[in-house]
Order: sequence, then C-alpha cells, then structure tokens
Amino acid sequence: MVRSQGWYGGEGRDPFIHRAWMRRGVPDHAFDGRPQIAIANTASDLTPCNMHFNEVADYVKQGVWEAGGVPVNLPVVSLGETVVKPTAMLWRNMAAMAIEEMLRANPIDAVVLLGGCDKTIPALLMGAASVDLPAVVLPGGPMLNGYFRGERMGCGTGVWQLSEEVRAGTLPAAEFEASDKKMIRSKGHCNTMGTASTMGLLAEALGMTIPGVAGTPAADSRLLEAAHASGRLAVELATEDRRISQVITKESFHNAIVALAAIGGSTNAVVHLLAIAGRLGIDLSLEDFDRIGGKVPLLVNLQPAGRYLMEDLFRAGGFFAVLDQLVDLLDPLAQTVTGKPLTEYLGGHDVWDRDVISLRSDPLQDDAGIAVLRGNLAPRGAIIKPAAASPELLVHTGRAVVFDSIEDVHARLDDPELDVDADSVLVLRGCGPKGYPGMPEVANMPLPQKLLKQGVRDVVRICDGRMSGTAYGTVVLHVAPEAAAGGPLALVQDGDLISLDVPNRRLELLVEEAELANRRTAQRALDGFARADRGWQKLYIDHVQGADTGADLDFLVGSSGSVVTRESH
Ligand code: FES
Repeated sequence: MVRSQGWYGGEGRDPFIHRAWMRRGVPDHAFDGRPQIAIANTASDLTPCNMHFNEVADYVKQGVWEAGGVPVNLPVVSLGETVVKPTAMLWRNMAAMAIEEMLRANPIDAVVLLGGCDKTIPALLMGAASVDLPAVVLPGGPMLNGYFRGERMGCGTGVWQLSEEVRAGTLPAAEFEASDKKMIRSKGHCNTMGTASTMGLLAEALGMTIPGVAGTPAADSRLLEAAHASGRLAVELATEDRRISQVITKESFHNAIVALAAIGGSTNAVVHLLAIAGRLGIDLSLEDFDRIGGKVPLLVNLQPAGRYLMEDLFRAGGFFAVLDQLVDLLDPLAQTVTGKPLTEYLGGHDVWDRDVISLRSDPLQDDAGIAVLRGNLAPRGAIIKPAAASPELLVHTGRAVVFDSIEDVHARLDDPELDVDADSVLVLRGCGPKGYPGMPEVANMPLPQKLLKQGVRDVVRICDGRMSGTAYGTVVLHVAPEAAAGGPLALVQDGDLISLDVPNRRLELLVEEAELANRRTAQRALDGFARADRGWQKLYIDHVQGADTGADLDFLVGSSGSVVTRESH
C-alpha cells in the first residue's frame, strides 16, 4: 500500500475528509491507491532563473497521469540568488526545512524535485533526503549563450569582468549598463559553470536525475521531454518504493567529486554536497574532495575559468561525453534513480567539439580538483579552486591587508592611502555562516582601484565566506573555523605575513604563537558580526555549523523519515 493511502484509504470520517476536499474535478479513481506524485516546484517570479518551471511542471504532470499516478503541484520556498537579501545562503537551510516538513506532512508517495537557481537544488535534495521518500531531480536548465561585443559573455562572470573594467576606466559605464540583455537573453539559470550549472550536473552524478538530462538548456524542447519522462519515472519510484537513501550512497559522492573536478565546478558544491551527505548520515569529509578530486583532469572549457558556456557543453556532447572519459575513475557501484548504476549509461558518448570538452589524453589541466588547505590560519580547513586561480600566486607570501566586513571593504578599498601592493594578501573576515550571517559570496572581493590602474588583475584573497561559482581569482575561501566562531582569522592584523602554498596544501599566518596567544587574550568581538534577537536569523546564528561540515543547522543534520503518526481531525 502506498503511503498516501494513510490519508485516502479506507472508510469513515477522516479518509472522507481527505478525499472530499481534494476532489474538485479530480476523478474518483485518483484515490484508489495509485501513487500521489508531488512536484516540489521552486517556480517564483522572484526567482528569475526558475520562472519557466510551471510550464515544465505541466509536462511532469502529463507523464505522471500517463504512468497511472496522480500529480500534485507543491510550491516550495524558492530563492532567487541575485535578488534575495542579505544572501540566499542564509535561507538555504530554511528552504530545506520547509521542504522536508511539507513533504512529510502531505499525502505524497514520491516527489519530482524541480530546481535550478543556485540554492534550489541543494535545498530540495537536503529536505527530501531527510524525509527519504522516493525522489527524482529535474534540473531546470541553463539559459542560452550571451554575447557582448561579438564574444560569448557568461552571466555572472561577465558582470565581474565588465564592472572591473569600468572601475579601471577601460569601459564606459553606459556600455556596461547596456550589456544586461545581451548577457541574459533567455529563460534558465546562469549559463557559466556556476553553482546552478554545477549542482544540476552533480545531481545527475549523484544518480538523482534521469540519466542524460542534466545540462539541457531551459529553452530546449528536450527539457520538456525530460519533464514528461521524470513524471513517469516518479510513478515507478513510488511503486517500487526506491528511496533516496537507496540511490545516494558514499559511492555516489565519489562520482560527484570526480565530476566536480572534471567540469571545473563551483566551490559552493563543496558546502552543498557536505550538507546533503549529512542529511543521509553519509560520512563525507573535506579531505574526500582533495583525495578523490585532486588527480582528476579538467576537461570542460567553460567560464568562469575557461571560454565557453553551458549551451556549448550541451552542443559538444553534454555531461555524459565528459563522464564517458572518466569511467575508470567512477565508482561502478553507485546507483541512479532508474535502479541501474550510473556507469551503465556511459560508453559511446562522442565529443563533438574538442575545444569545449577536451579529451582525457589532452586535458585542459591535470589535477584540477578543489584543494583543501590546512594550517594555523585554517585549522578545520579552507578551500581554493586552483583552476580559477593565477598559477604564479599558488605559492605566495605577502603582507595582510585586513577588512572586518564587506562594508569595510566598500568603505576603504579604493582609498588612495590604503597600504596595499601587488604582493599584498587581502583578508576579509566576518563573512562565515555565523558572522554575516549566511556566508555570502564576497570572498572574491574586488581589487583596490590603485592596483587595477597598475594593471594588476589578481592578488591572493582569503575569506571565511564563499565565492560565486561564476567568479575567478586566487581566492582562499570557506576558512574554518570562521572569525565569528573564534577562528584564527580574527587574530590577523595589517602587515602580518601570510603564506599560501597550494601544492603543499598549507595556509599559515607567520606570526609567533606567543604573539597570537597575546592577541587571543586581548581579542574583543569584532564589530560588524551579526546579532539577531528573534526569527530565523536568531535560529540560524545559534545553530549553524561550520563550512567544513556543510553549514547546516545542527538540529537538521540527519533524517526523520516519512512517518506521521498523529491526526488532528
Ligand atoms: Fe540564478 Fe545564477 S542567479 S543561477
């Protein structure tokens, strides 16, 4: 018997109430024991990357009906990355909590998770994992290529590049202003290898999508075909009771980490994968990213580190053409929602454009994974994406220029008196999960104008916050523990020497331990760290964990299952 029969099945007052209020044009046989399939739909006019989802959901519904199920649209909390303040990451756990509770509270047997914009797929997966119902992810797809001045221009990445040009005085502000419609010209999420693209592809690497659909552009009719197929599959999942915990295992994360390195994916994926693993009780550590991904070659030439965009990746053969070349690195035990291993779908996927997808024999870069750094400045770890960094800065020692908040950056960065040069190390703290709160994407802080005018385009930056997946630069991020949680980043002073050594995975503050002990004693809370007296922000600050374990709330880690025992009628 399917779970929803706990609402609709049998005789008497309570099942009557459940059926009667749901009828409204729905045929009688809808409640005869057939699976009820929710479409957890993150469509919202305030999430522009997901605005097309109601059309996609209609195709999911057709697939569900066709396969003998009953579709129900379930609007869930949606987060528009560019719109939501103070930062969408503050709300990821809230969205996940709401999704979890609504899936559990309602007569649902399986769910199609419809996500796109950065935080939406992570929140959907986290929430659904904690309920552990059968589920399939349908990524909403990237937008079409943007073009500016005759060249490909990725959204996000283009904003960072052009705004720096304006600050350097090499691009008129009016031209920057006019770039928006050229950069963002269709439905869909960001078209670079940013967080949304990365998480869509990694949902597939985790085995949670119909194999082969991730990366389909939002405007491509094949996305609607995939929606139909996802609806059909959800009915099968419910019938066979194939739950998320049977699909996503430690082996699935192994494959996701391999894929993350090969596609040059967003650093945000580290936090999200750790949080999803936490919901499933899977022991995934920061070191796993370095150990598994460290030796994987970079095969995908996409912005922000490379040249092309998601539409090009799809044209060049798609995600499976990338995975096809990495079969020997993938775990053959990892399953997919179809009940077959991921590797069973690989083989015979051609690369049609080797400038977009490199062959394994001629990679864009060897050893492309995310590097995990340790040292007295990051005892619980920090990460850097070498593929997006300047090679000459990967081993570097320089004097610290310290900022206590992003507001401090805005106030002082362009001050001609700022004591900074091309060798300086910019430190930005107070931007971790607790400190901001919400761990904003500010780690790739802009360069001081006086350096830009000297032609400097990158310096080492260190932060306890995150970096947009569309950004680039020699940026050390997710430093843990964060400054607001008492991490050593809080002890750094202007002029201190900091040593970054990526090949040896070290990040050191070159200050005597005795001096650091003095500073620790004298330390007062840094101004600007967030405080909250009530509401979600208080709950978040009081309970959020470090970036090194996924920045989930301590009481949300794990699963409560799908059983609801009490009934109020
Ligand atoms: Fe939505 Fe980039 S703003 S994916």
